[in-house]
Amino acid sequence: AEYKIAVLVGSLRKGSHNQALAHALEKLAAGKAVFSYVEIGDLPLYNQDFDKDYPSQGVRLKQQIRDADAVLFVTPEYNRSVPGVLKNAIDLGSRPYGDSAFAGKPAAVIGASIGVIGTALAQQHLRNILAYLDMPVLGQPEAFLHFKEGLIDAHGTISNEGTKDFLQGFVDTFIAWVGTHGGTH
Ligand code: FNR
Repeated sequence: AEYKIAVLVGSLRKGSHNQALAHALEKLAAGKAVFSYVEIGDLPLYNQDFDKDYPSQGVRLKQQIRDADAVLFVTPEYNRSVPGVLKNAIDLGSRPYGDSAFAGKPAAVIGASIGVIGTALAQQHLRNILAYLDMPVLGQPEAFLHFKEGLIDAHGTISNEGTKDFLQGFVDTFIAWVGTHGGTH
């Protein structure tokens, strides 16, 4: 059976390279995993008052994470870290204290940037957060994509064979690894 992977994309913009990367990975995972895209653009800014009466978007987010076998984070780098929208989604999914949707879920991180370090620093920050949330995170391969115009189109078609092979390896390794870290299918 196919694994169900919840996908959080850290960019809300139309024409996002990271959104394109997520679609490319979805295609490469066809037949082995199904992607469920998690809406993070309509989430309220987390406020600890929520813990008494959680907002419906937060409840929905947590359910979507819980329904998945694993979580894939596909994120740009903003000012050498993860974008605030992604951090907000993570904060919402992790609360109230003791009721985090993320605990124990296998995860992987990947990202694309127009800069040469390809989100390396954002991914390092993200790994730190995920370690605290007690998520086992795929160690290798690391994937820092230096995005050049035309590399991946909006439908997730990859124009470069080397990039395609590399991303296929990433996807296959992640899916195999999910099976050894609590994936249920
Ligand atoms: C950026 N960008 C960027 N790139 C990078 O490699 N390192 C960085 O620290 C930053 N910082 C940063 C901050 C802010 C506020 C913006 C808007 C952009 C550039 C970034 O890589 C580029 O905008 C990507 O296209 C963003 O990803 P999406 O939206 O295409 O998925």
